Amino acid sequence: MQQNGVYLDYAASTPIDERVLEAMLPYFTTEFGNPSSIHRWGQRAETAVEDARESIAAIMDCAPEEIVFTSCGSESDNLAVRGLAMYAKNTRGARHILISPVEHDAVSKTAHNLAERFGFDLEFLPVDEDGRVSPNDLAIRIRDDTALVSIIYANNEIGTINPIAELADICRRREIPFHTDAVQAASQLDITVNHLNIDLLSLGAHKFYGPKGVGALYIRSGNTIWAQQTGGSQEFSLRAGTQNVPLIVGMARALEITQSESDEHNKKYSRLRDHLLGALPEIIPDTQISGHLSSRLPNHASFLFKGIDGNQLLGVLDAAGFGCSSGSACKTGDPAPSKVLEAIGLPAIWALGSLRVTVGRPTREADIQRLVQILPEAVERLRKISA
Ligand SMILES: Cc1ncc(COP(=O)(O)O)c(C=O)c1O
Repeated sequence: MQQNGVYLDYAASTPIDERVLEAMLPYFTTEFGNPSSIHRWGQRAETAVEDARESIAAIMDCAPEEIVFTSCGSESDNLAVRGLAMYAKNTRGARHILISPVEHDAVSKTAHNLAERFGFDLEFLPVDEDGRVSPNDLAIRIRDDTALVSIIYANNEIGTINPIAELADICRRREIPFHTDAVQAASQLDITVNHLNIDLLSLGAHKFYGPKGVGALYIRSGNTIWAQQTGGSQEFSLRAGTQNVPLIVGMARALEITQSESDEHNKKYSRLRDHLLGALPEIIPDTQISGHLSSRLPNHASFLFKGIDGNQLLGVLDAAGFGCSSGSACKTGDPAPSKVLEAIGLPAIWALGSLRVTVGRPTREADIQRLVQILPEAVERLRKISA
């Protein structure tokens, strides 16, 4: 067992890779300059930010000027959705926003806010029982006055991967901007934006062994968004504020490492994931897998245990030394069924009993074997309590 128990919540956050920390450290101490300053301290800080931008752009197959640094994945989603919507409304009178019902709150609450306060017409695309959006449905519902389409790349709660390139292609042919939240995807999937036809893409570093408090938004040149934070002209005047140099350096290093090692890690992750997906429905009665069986994040296993309270299960698992989740980190402690599970058609008796297990670099086969050993009794005990 790992020191202090077994952490199996890598979709919530990951530890900083030692190599990332090493790259960041000088920028907290000796290299503390403001990237906007003219002098040599400022120039060195600016070089660090621009090198980080170039490195991320090379990985994503885009131009450095198409990357805007933000403070987190949520900010990137807000900037994309609000920035696109406000620009489209004011320049071409577009009022329609199309998203899926399985978006992270950073997208869905932003879209709701635009509908409630600014009169946008918010429409949700249907999803199938695995939480996937069909390109046909998008093709039918997209309109000339659609301001933007935003569809999550890989779902944080149920791990399902959307057919992002096909969805994006439909938007491209209609000349409607397409944004994807790739906050979960970036640690394991392809994020080359030309291959995927994407116009805007959100990242958050703490999901790929980088620091918390930094994210990025890719904006394909030719797309205009309105800044949501105004002030200085940093980040091409799209996001005012002195850049957080150490965190930006860390994010770039973390993405380089993650993407270059992803084949190796993904192989291990999917083996551990498949062990869980295969074993638990076999040994625990009334158990379902949530999300798609094969089109899912390599490190993501999620389940529904009929008739239990998923949050209680998390408490029992924590007492046994396991850190898991019932959905997204934001859901923990919230007794309402998750809207993602509702959207895929699950009644509360199933949806309330959700468990998400996400493996990471330190996870070992023995950790998974132990979890598989203790879960049947934990679920049975909770079922007896709630019976
Ligand atoms: C899919 C998705 N989008 C956005 C976010 C928000 O990212 P951040 O924590 O960097 O704000 C998360 C975090 O869990 C996520 O999983």
